[in-house]
Amino acid sequence: MKIAIGSDHVGSELKPIIMEYLTSKGHEVHDFGTYSTESTDYPIYGVIVGEAVAQGDYEQGILICGTGIGISLAANKVKGIRACACSEPYSAQMARRHNNANVLCFGARVVGSEMAKMIVDAWLEAEFEGGRHARRVKEIVDYENGTWRPEDGFPENYL
Ligand code: RB5
Repeated sequence: MKIAIGSDHVGSELKPIIMEYLTSKGHEVHDFGTYSTESTDYPIYGVIVGEAVAQGDYEQGILICGTGIGISLAANKVKGIRACACSEPYSAQMARRHNNANVLCFGARVVGSEMAKMIVDAWLEAEFEGGRHARRVKEIVDYENGTWRPEDGFPENYL
């Protein structure tokens, strides 16, 4: 799988560990920065990786900041991105199975490297289930595109 990865300074030491882990499993990983522990701003990398995934250049994105929260908020501002901050494997698995999420985020101040690897495994091994979950994800996508409102309910012709 082609994976885009990025972090702020807080995630910059965990990131190479995750990159090496992904590469050892046969994935192709591109690092969009930051490349040092010098203080920077997480929205930069959230948006850069979000755009790389939204443009279709990468199948999935992985983002690391202190909590995983700020960088997920930034990535979610990119049209087409469904980024989730996950601190354990169950949420990571369900974010793929039910939410068809395309950017995984976690916090270097929250999880250790071994837990992070388990989260990544759960994310990459899970597959979107479609069905009623596809309708719900479509509502999110259509809201983003201005073609669906909550008052429209769940249209029968969606699925
Ligand atoms: C940086 O101190 C920290 O705020 C950042 O890494 C992230 O946790 C924000 O959500």
